[in-house]
Amino acid sequence: MKKIAHRGISAQAPENTRAAFKKMVALNVEWLETDIDMTSDGELILIHDDKVDRVSNGSGSVNDMTLIELQKLDFGRWFSEAYANERIVTLKWLIDFINHYQFNVNFELKTALKSDTQHAYLTSVCQALRQVSSKVEIIVSSFDMTLLQKFHVLMPSIQLGVLIEAQLPDNIVEIAKNIGATYVHPDVTFLTKEQTHKLIDNHLQVNVWTVNDMIVAEKLEKWRVEAIFTDFPEVKAI
Ligand code: G3P
Ligand code: MG
Repeated sequence: MKKIAHRGISAQAPENTRAAFKKMVALNVEWLETDIDMTSDGELILIHDDKVDRVSNGSGSVNDMTLIELQKLDFGRWFSEAYANERIVTLKWLIDFINHYQFNVNFELKTALKSDTQHAYLTSVCQALRQVSSKVEIIVSSFDMTLLQKFHVLMPSIQLGVLIEAQLPDNIVEIAKNIGATYVHPDVTFLTKEQTHKLIDNHLQVNVWTVNDMIVAEKLEKWRVEAIFTDFPEVKAI
């Protein structure tokens, strides 16, 4: 079973920062999960929350701030003084980093963008992903099925992951097949063995989030889960 570093090595360094990505490479972790959002001036940056408040010394909505405004904020000190002065990471920086170190990535498309900026967001994401080395495996996932469908039209060669929060819907196989997804990404809290096997029997691969418990990871491996998203991807026992 693969282990995907959730927002970088986010148990050891502030999530979605250069430090978290560098630590991943240092520990030979082969898969990264990260979140792509967009600034008010159309720059793609990596951040999980819709607001900067939890992970920086600033406040406000990411989509309302320019790249320059975001670059002034400290994205490391909230985690530890040792990481003071970590700055927002652009997708462009990460793609150069990926191409250099050749690891695989699950990019999550964020869902809070206003509908009039969605097209610009998707177009920019596609332009950026075209710069990724062909040796690197990519999955693009989202909780927003409409957004995934639109992305798929623009870039049909990229594998899709259907992200589901809470219970899997009864028609999950149909949903995933309709948008041409390869993967379903269920929430570990609600996933059952029967659901996992139904997905696998229908030729869908299962990547489960977020799994930080070794006993649970071992159980999922027995269920033939393809990968887990974890804050501890370097732990050998899982
Ligand atoms: O993509 C897996 C996981 O990252 C989804 O949840 O909230 O951490 O983005 P979240
Ligand atoms: Mg995510």
